[in-house]
Amino acid sequence: MKATAKANTNIALIKYWGKRDEELFLPMNSSLSITLDSFYTITNVEFSRNLNKDIFMLNNHQASESESNKVFRFLDKIRKLAGTHLHAVVTSENKVPTAAGFASSASGFAALAAAAAKALNLELDERELSILARQGSGSACRSIYGGYVEWQRGERADGKDSYAKQLLSERDWNISILSCLVASGQKQVSSREGMKRTALTSPFYSGWLNTVEKDLERAKEAIRLRDFESLGKIVEANALKMHATMLGAEPPILYWQSGTMEVMHHIQNLRLSGISAYFTIDAGPNVKVLCLPEDEQRVYESLLTLPSVQNVIICHPGAGVSYL
Ligand code: DP6
Repeated sequence: MKATAKANTNIALIKYWGKRDEELFLPMNSSLSITLDSFYTITNVEFSRNLNKDIFMLNNHQASESESNKVFRFLDKIRKLAGTHLHAVVTSENKVPTAAGFASSASGFAALAAAAAKALNLELDERELSILARQGSGSACRSIYGGYVEWQRGERADGKDSYAKQLLSERDWNISILSCLVASGQKQVSSREGMKRTALTSPFYSGWLNTVEKDLERAKEAIRLRDFESLGKIVEANALKMHATMLGAEPPILYWQSGTMEVMHHIQNLRLSGISAYFTIDAGPNVKVLCLPEDEQRVYESLLTLPSVQNVIICHPGAGVSYL
């Protein structure tokens, strides 16, 4: 009745932004990501007849009420699937430096789904696991797989066709992803709230929906051809377009800090000097820079010279879920 799983986090190249069903975590649009090698969550789940409630320990401490409630609601979904009423102790170790500005929900719910399903002997295949992880946090469905991953939005109301699949493994194409920390601290608006507000109120959201599937097709073609330049252009534009939809929300959402702008301009200047580097930004102020491995060291050193950059962590494509 117990199991331990490890999942890496992922960074979206074509963003998931907006839900059509909040309970099932069904997205408005398909998305595409790279699973990373350096940031992960390891989670142990143990179901027991001796417990009268669930317990969630995160990095050796009892997790906050809001974090715990998300985990307990997710356990309810797994219990329903397995036909059990047993409670569980969930123990997670997060190696996602919050300071690096990476969300831990993707690796967190991917590891939790895998460990809990195994502990209950559910024998899910990767697709079923992706569907399950999605119902903890949308982006978690992509972290089941390593490398380059697409999450198809699906059409069904029950969500059975909304899951991720691997496009290329982590060994098929090595690129560098440099995570730049420009500002720490808790963000004001969570991605969950941000995407909801945007979809409900932004007049630019329809423009997003009209173009994002086309962005995805172009990104997939660039990945297939290992065409870094084309991929970088689409990725950077897609991230800026997502942020543009938020600026139009009511009230507007602005995740950028002055350091965010500094890194963006720096990357655009690097390109003028002949280095192929592109950026992407999630629902927060920190910037992730994509470049080719042969330029990694130069880009890394140049980022560290910027006054607002506090830290840079170099990542590469990483593996999918594993069991320990
Ligand atoms: C901007 O997966 O964290 O990082 O499904 O509500 O848990 P919930 O949201 P989450 O949102 C991720 C938003 C994003 C883009 C992306 O990862 O695709």
